[in-house]
Amino acid sequence: MIAKIKGTRDWLDLSLFNFVIDQVRAHCALYAFDEVKTPILEPVDLFKRSLGLETDIVSKEMYLVHTGHDEETICLRPEFTASVMRAYCEAGIQEKPWNVFSIGALFRHERPQKGRYREFHQINLERIGSETVESDVELILFLERLFAEKLQIDSYALLINFLGCAADREKFKGALRVFLDQNDERMCSTCKVRKERNIMRVFDCKNPACQELYKSAPKIADHLCPTCAAEWLLMRTMLEELSISYTHAPNLVRGLDYYDKTVFEFVSNALGSQSAFCGGGRYNGLSQALGYNRSLPSVGAGIGIERLLMIIEAQQQKLQIPFKKKLIAVLPLGNEQRRAALLLADELRARNVCAVPVLTNESTKAMFRAANRLGAAFTLIIGSDEIRDGMVTVKNMTTGAEERVPQMKAIELMVQG
Ligand code: HAM
Repeated sequence: MIAKIKGTRDWLDLSLFNFVIDQVRAHCALYAFDEVKTPILEPVDLFKRSLGLETDIVSKEMYLVHTGHDEETICLRPEFTASVMRAYCEAGIQEKPWNVFSIGALFRHERPQKGRYREFHQINLERIGSETVESDVELILFLERLFAEKLQIDSYALLINFLGCAADREKFKGALRVFLDQNDERMCSTCKVRKERNIMRVFDCKNPACQELYKSAPKIADHLCPTCAAEWLLMRTMLEELSISYTHAPNLVRGLDYYDKTVFEFVSNALGSQSAFCGGGRYNGLSQALGYNRSLPSVGAGIGIERLLMIIEAQQQKLQIPFKKKLIAVLPLGNEQRRAALLLADELRARNVCAVPVLTNESTKAMFRAANRLGAAFTLIIGSDEIRDGMVTVKNMTTGAEERVPQMKAIELMVQG
C-alpha cells in the first residue's frame, strides 16, 4: 500500500478548517482585505533574492521542481510574501495600500514534528504600500481581534521587536560582531558560518547553548536612530492605548532577510516547541530586492493554519461551530423503487434540502444502518404500496415514529424541518 509523503497530512474532516476560514474571510471583509491567489510554482530566484541565501528556507528547505528542462529553476512556494509582491509589481497595480489576503499550501523541507509539516497551510495578509507605524499597529489589531474575539483563543502571547532601518542594522551588526568574536568558542559551527555570511541569522539558531549565549548579546532596539526610536516608542504607546498586551522579545529577528523595523509573533504554549502560530512584520526593501524600480514599504503576516487549529481544537466547545445541515435519507424497499428514490431525492434538493438516496443492493436492515451512519434526521421509505398510492412513509430517526403521508406532504414536512 502506498503511504502519504512524510510531513504531509490527509484532511478527512474539514469542518473546523472551514469554520476557521469562514471566520477569517468575514474578518477580512470587515477590514477591506480582498482575497488573491498566486501560483504554487514560482521561480527559485524569487525566494533567493527576497528571503536571503543564508536563511534556513533557501539554504536547505526548498522543494525544487525538475521538469527535465535544465534552464528552468522552479520551486514549490515556501511562503506568500514574495509572491504577492511579485504579483503587485508585475500587474502594475497602483492602489496603495493594497490590502490582500491569500489562503493556501506552502512547502518547506523541514524535519517533521508536532505542528511542523513539509506541506502546511497559511492565511497570509499583506498591506503593500503603507509606510506608517500606525498601519503596523492596525495589522496587529486585526490579528488580535481575530484571535481573541472571533476565534476566542485565550492562551497566547504577542512578541514584538523592532529591527530599525538598514543603517541601524549596519551599526548593530558591528556591535554584534564584537560580541560574537569574544564568544567564538561558545557558538555552534552553523552560527560561525552565519557570522561571516549574514550575521543577524545567528539569532535563528535552535541550539540551546547558542540561544543561551545570545541572551547577553547586544540588542538591536538599543541601536536605533532617532526616527526609528520614535517609531518604536509610538508603536508601544499605541499598543498600550489599544490594550493589546505584548512582550518585547529583543532577539526576535524572524528568520527571513526581508524584514525591517517591526517584527512580531503570536505564540501559544498549547503548541509545544513549535509555539508560533502567526508571524509577520514590515518589509520596506522587498520590491527593490526583486528588481522593481521603486521602494514599496509594506507590512504583513502569515497565520499557520495547522497550528491555529491545534489551539482551537482544544477549546472548540466555546465556539458556535454550525452543525452539519440536516440530512434526509431516501430508502427504497426493493430494487424497483430505486429509481423513485433517486427522483424523490432530486425533488428535495431542488427545495434546498440535503437528501441522500440509499442506492445499494443490500437488505432493508443494512440500508437502515446506512441511513443511521449518514446521520439522517428522517428517512423517507418507498415500497411498492407507497408507489401505488403516491405515498411515502416518513420515519423520524430519533424517536422511531413512522407516518404514511402523500409524497407532496412528505416533501413539505422535510422543507419545514
Ligand atoms: P513564517 O514565520 O515563516 O512567516 O510563517 C508564518 C507561520 O506559518 C508560522 O508562525 C507558523 O505558524 C506557520 N508555519 C511555518 N512553517 C511551518 C511548518 N513547517 N509547518 C506548519 N506551520 C508552519 C512567513 O511565512 C512570512 N511570509 C509571514 C509574513 C507575511 N511576513 C510578512 N508578511
